[in-house]
Amino acid sequence: MNAIIQTQALTKVYGSNGTAVHALRGIDFSVQKGEFVALIGPSGSGKSTLMAILGCLDLPTAGTYTLDGHQVQGLAGGELARIRNEKVGFVFQSYNLLPKASIARNVELPMLYAGVGRRERRERAMALLEKVGIADKADKLPATLSGGQKQRVAVARALANAPALLLADEPTGALDSKTGAEVLQLFHELHQQGNTIVLVTHDPSIAAQAERRVEIRDGLIATSEGAA
Ligand SMILES: Nc1ncnc2c1ncn2[C@@H]1O[C@H](COP(=O)(O)OP(=O)(O)OP(=O)(O)O)[C@@H](O)[C@H]1O
Ligand SMILES: [Mg+2]
Repeated sequence: MNAIIQTQALTKVYGSNGTAVHALRGIDFSVQKGEFVALIGPSGSGKSTLMAILGCLDLPTAGTYTLDGHQVQGLAGGELARIRNEKVGFVFQSYNLLPKASIARNVELPMLYAGVGRRERRERAMALLEKVGIADKADKLPATLSGGQKQRVAVARALANAPALLLADEPTGALDSKTGAEVLQLFHELHQQGNTIVLVTHDPSIAAQAERRVEIRDGLIATSEGAA
């Protein structure tokens, strides 16, 4: 079995009673090892909610989620954090870099949590910064980088623990179209190297470049097309 992601009847309700928001209403979704899937759909349809659950940043209200063979639903906070750090690399639209830590240090952080020794952390961080094309910025602070450079750092950090799954929520959303295309090219290269990628985008031209497109509407999967 080569499923990295498998969800069944995944449900997420925010709030309760009168103020409840049914963000996900029964999502059956699977992603096989090595796939590159684009998640699309209108604003408020539940894409980020689904990504947060897939990335073990949040838990579903009901339903099941199996990530690389591990049951995720019902995990306690500490276990959820551990599986997230081990299995998932997450890239956000807003980069989410630590402003006071150097670029190299930002990339090292997930390895620090994973208990990797100092020397190996540094070596792996430098190799990853090399891979995303900004090793020369290793000792700089995030504020001194352009948006595209910051997103490359975020991608390097996401890859720090060689995750089974790379998730990206609008990774080009804050970038101009040329820089966005360069960052997307990086995702293509990572896909060719065997990484499993799920990427949220509003941009049809970006979605068209994925192997498969899955559309979410009102908390449900509306359509899925492309190679299965
Ligand atoms: N923390 C939260 N508390 C309450 N409601 C929330 C929360 N996060 C999201 N929602 C609601 O859940 C629904 C889905 O939101 P979500 O952020 O997943 O949409 P999205 O598809 O990512 O939208 P966008 O394209 O604008 O990013 C929306 O109605 C939203 O208002
Ligand atoms: Mg969103």
